[in-house]
Amino acid sequence: MCGIVGYTGFRQAYPVVLKGLKRLEYRGYDSSGVAMVQPDGLALLKKKGKVAELEEFAIGKNLASQICIGHTRWATHGEPSDRNAHPHLSQSGEIAMIHNGIIENYAPIKAELIKKGYTFNSDTDTEVLLNFIDDIKKENACTLEEAVRIALKRIVGAYCILLVHKDDPETIIAARKGSPLVIGIGKGEHFLASDASPIIEYTKEVVYVNDYEIAIIKPDELILKNLGNEKQTPFVQKLDMELAAIEKGGYPHFMLKEIFEQPQTIFDCLRGRLLPQENNIILSGIDKYAAEITAANRIIIIACGTSWHAGLVAEYIIEELCRIPVEVEYASEFRYRNPIVQKGDVIIAISQSGETADTLVAIENAKEKGAIILGVVNVVGSSIARLSHAGAYTHAGHEIGVASTKAFTGQLAVLMMMAFKLGYAKGTISQERFTQLSQELSTVPEKVAKVLEQDDAVKAIALKYADARDFLYLGRGYNFPIALEGALKLKEISYIHAEGYPAAEMKHGPIALVDEHLPVVFVATKDSFHEKVVSNMQEIKARKGKIISIITEGDEVSPTLSDDVIVLPAIDEIIAPLINVIPLQLLSYHIGIAKGLDVDKPRNLAKSVTVE
Ligand code: M6R
Repeated sequence: MCGIVGYTGFRQAYPVVLKGLKRLEYRGYDSSGVAMVQPDGLALLKKKGKVAELEEFAIGKNLASQICIGHTRWATHGEPSDRNAHPHLSQSGEIAMIHNGIIENYAPIKAELIKKGYTFNSDTDTEVLLNFIDDIKKENACTLEEAVRIALKRIVGAYCILLVHKDDPETIIAARKGSPLVIGIGKGEHFLASDASPIIEYTKEVVYVNDYEIAIIKPDELILKNLGNEKQTPFVQKLDMELAAIEKGGYPHFMLKEIFEQPQTIFDCLRGRLLPQENNIILSGIDKYAAEITAANRIIIIACGTSWHAGLVAEYIIEELCRIPVEVEYASEFRYRNPIVQKGDVIIAISQSGETADTLVAIENAKEKGAIILGVVNVVGSSIARLSHAGAYTHAGHEIGVASTKAFTGQLAVLMMMAFKLGYAKGTISQERFTQLSQELSTVPEKVAKVLEQDDAVKAIALKYADARDFLYLGRGYNFPIALEGALKLKEISYIHAEGYPAAEMKHGPIALVDEHLPVVFVATKDSFHEKVVSNMQEIKARKGKIISIITEGDEVSPTLSDDVIVLPAIDEIIAPLINVIPLQLLSYHIGIAKGLDVDKPRNLAKSVTVE
């Protein structure tokens, strides 16, 4: 949550930071701001709203400086406003700070500071931490770096902070715990950001700062220390990312671009791993733990949001193919409910960002109890990836649209490969079934491309129903999680109330919602439950609901019950979720656009939820 950018070097810093903030806006867009060190002190500019508002506000102001920190906010403490926007300025006026995260014990610290006579200009926990640092600096007559170190030892919560001091036009002090920070290393310049996208244009050499590390960054120098003041050796990595990957490439929105990238991203995810001709699936991370996983008494899948839906699909598939009991947990519930985790339990953590706070803490707890943690993560080098014992990246590339699309299909592709591989290794599926599933999975990129050819047809359906007040999404078996995902996408992008439900469960309550105004989306492709789903369609039809059905080519019955149909290529029911979700992504996109909404930055959301 929140995006942070910093620059110190030989260039004019503001344009570098502003561009970086635009790239990180997917992380939060309630307000934004920058702080620069200038000859007469600190210059702060901040504005409620998107980065464009800040850019407008900055026109005509003195922006000259070779050092700048900037922030784009997803509000936690205090409403979105100019006053609560970052950077904050210490009461002394000497230090400016930006923060991504939450300081959980801010209240007692604030009380202490108030007793000492401090007053606050915002409702944020950030301003409390900043004044705490300033106060320590004064009381101990120490450097800013030392004051930060002392303060952080008392802090409970998550943070990535960047600070600049009015008398130091070269140095940025940064520290992190639980919120990401990447430092880009240039020649005579350094870049700091929440992810690599603001940096990639300038350098490919980066350092991912670890938890409890403090960085002292000058144009020509990067010093990393732990909270015990011991120097750490920075581990310099090469970014495997191109600038084109983070630009829209001719599409009007990142979401549409990312939906259309899926034939390629799924292909990239399968490449070199799914080897049907050799009758093999190579997932090198997982291979190391294959014996423990196949022998596990149970698998617990932990995730949030869309990633949780991928986990539900995996539950159905792993239980079917591997005959291992699977539980799928919301990370936010799991971490607080004292769950039973035993040595040898296998946990699969699924996360696009690899930084979701609830998922991160949930797996930290499980790891302490002896569980084996497997990460299915998109962002390389992210916290969850690093915390996991092993795992497999989804290789979906940088996902910028706040609504997850290509990361979801990447997750499904990885989880399917895992299930096929483990089922075969365990002997719960035959070689013939393994080969057939592998071969069918390899056809997915081509089939997804075929589904995308129907974009205009989906758009026409979207325009027809864009004014609906509610939507119901129904599916059974492997398609039930896809119904949930379709409903979530619609809620996020169009602000239309939508519910996903198991198709048969619908008659135990939600059927009361059905009338001639309610569009009901059936994920009704050919599978073992198909006839039952058709009966559920009859039940909706009898109550005059409007039926939009996602069906398999050759199905002649469903169209007779449906108002609108989207026809998909046939594929094994276990793999079908990978294809069936595509029209639902397009449907929500086109409804959002028809309603004139910002589909890449839906209100109240942020791409990466690094607070609990
Ligand atoms: O980065 P993660 O996969 O851990 O994020 C989990 C959820 O926050 C995320 O899937 C969220 O639900 C998306 N907005 C869905 O489109």
